[in-house]
Amino acid sequence: CGIVAYTGPREAYPVILKGLKRLEYRGYDSAGVALLNSGLQVFKKKGKVAELEEALLGKNLHALTGIGHTRWATHGEPSDRNAHPHRSSNGKLAMVHNGIIENYALLKRELQNKGYHFESDTDTEVLLKFIEDIHGHHNGSLEEAVRIALKRIVGAYVIILIDEDNPDTLIAARKGSPLVIGIGKGEHFLASDASPIVEYTKEVVYINDYEIAIVKPDELILKNLGNEKVTPFITKLDMELAAIEKGGFDHFMLKEIFEQPTTIFDCLRGRLDASAGTIRMSGVDDNLDMLTNARRIIMVACGTSWHAGLVAEYVFEELCRIPVEVEYASEFRYRNPVIQTGDVIIAISQSGETADTLVAIDKAKEQGAFIFGVVNVVGSSIARVSHAGAHTHAGPEIGVASTKAFTAQLAVLYMIALKLGYAKGTIGMERYTHLINELHMVPEKVATVLESSSRIKELAEKYKDSTDFLYLGRGFNFPVALEGALKLKEISYIHAEGYPAAEMKHGPIALVEETLPVVFVATKDAYHEKLVSNAQEIKARRGKVVAVITEDDPVFTEIADDTMSVPAADELIAPMLGVIPLQLLAYYIGLAKGLDVDKPRNLAKSVTVE
Ligand code: G6P
Repeated sequence: CGIVAYTGPREAYPVILKGLKRLEYRGYDSAGVALLNSGLQVFKKKGKVAELEEALLGKNLHALTGIGHTRWATHGEPSDRNAHPHRSSNGKLAMVHNGIIENYALLKRELQNKGYHFESDTDTEVLLKFIEDIHGHHNGSLEEAVRIALKRIVGAYVIILIDEDNPDTLIAARKGSPLVIGIGKGEHFLASDASPIVEYTKEVVYINDYEIAIVKPDELILKNLGNEKVTPFITKLDMELAAIEKGGFDHFMLKEIFEQPTTIFDCLRGRLDASAGTIRMSGVDDNLDMLTNARRIIMVACGTSWHAGLVAEYVFEELCRIPVEVEYASEFRYRNPVIQTGDVIIAISQSGETADTLVAIDKAKEQGAFIFGVVNVVGSSIARVSHAGAHTHAGPEIGVASTKAFTAQLAVLYMIALKLGYAKGTIGMERYTHLINELHMVPEKVATVLESSSRIKELAEKYKDSTDFLYLGRGFNFPVALEGALKLKEISYIHAEGYPAAEMKHGPIALVEETLPVVFVATKDAYHEKLVSNAQEIKARRGKVVAVITEDDPVFTEIADDTMSVPAADELIAPMLGVIPLQLLAYYIGLAKGLDVDKPRNLAKSVTVE
């Protein structure tokens, strides 16, 4: 979910509305605002933020303090009733929440026994009424009631409360989910990330777990749960407004796909020096002993970031000869994983806020692992809890399906592997400099791939009515097949499966028939001939073969019904190129089907609940 709040001299509603639109990538099944004028008014609606906006046209929304929310449902279906903000029984308080209150059922029963009624199915309303109950019994402030309540809460949350009796004061608290406060002149902005804040101020405070913020227009007080004051640590935002706008593209996803030559370049810049044949990364250099002597590396991530980890597994094992495991964060955290001294966790996350990844890190950290974060969002939770790390510098990614963050993650992971391999001596100078050069040329080659976007659009038209797709690849390209299938599922709602090309014989081949497009990630590598055989196996069963190939590949061109080509590259680096046509294919198929590619149904970009 995304939350925004404002207190200061401006009209709160337009600030909040714009902020909610920027945060919509975090969830968009319902939205709402609570505004304080002479009294507290709450408006909420099922659907996207634009639907709330339309419903509020013509209403008197004058207020200088307000809170807003855009939801990704956890407890209770998307509906007006379950939308936030929720209101206390006495009507004086309203609250927005991002996260999950795990012990809500018990608290709800306690409150019901005391006579409280609930209007929604949410855990949020339970927490709010729990706070209200404590507030009613103590003569103290709302802030104190929040503090007492939170001591009993199990789960993750960011909450912001607005109080009719204290019209210019917002109370906010965080544990596990993100909260940033923007410091203006006589005004404060609160939000789940910096995007709603950046156009007003660049001075921000990232709130830490177990902190409570008491926010007035000209005062920000931070306290811990022990009621001790904490000094707010003000940092400067390194983000430009243009980076979070569409800049002439129809969708953020398309803009982000097309940004990749620049974002990959930005990621390499200042680190990789092709003419000197060097890579500098302070996070790696400062911990070189620890990393080169790693007994084992465990990549922990979710979604597309997990796929980047999978590519990295092949690359690290090849270049560094360190055993690598790739773990879904959600599985890893609930297993009883064996972690030993000398284990290094590489946590990969675009947002730096994914709840499962964050908790997996905590668990590994408790057991003594060294945590290296590969994170896009500077200042995010994962970036802050890691022992060391490297940012991917892809800029804000807003399209829900990850594209530019993935290629930047790969760029960072390649650089780390190259550094470690060279330092360990598992690769020699020649291969090291060759691969540095190959990486250096990626932005230009990606730009070449993008030039063929109109051809991929045609293919999208041709295949858009297929009901299933199979994506196949081997070796370094196997994770690319998985990522291609994931992109298609996310954006077009077409069922797609990614599989290792050879393993296809052991099951998925049963699906092959004339109507099934099988997408091969078939750039030239050591397994190329094997892949040719796999494609023949599909053709023999009358499946359609669509292939991502290296330019000038007469063999595959002959077998395939359709091809999308990418420039030649070292097989290790090829995934950064091979994935681009698959991103475009998913985008154009989604577009051809008339779907909302930036906000696909049921998904959220940043999943801060487990
Ligand atoms: C969500 C997003 C995916 C993303 C995954 C992991 O599911 O929709 O695009 O890959 O979370 O997110 P992270 O921010 O940790 O990379």
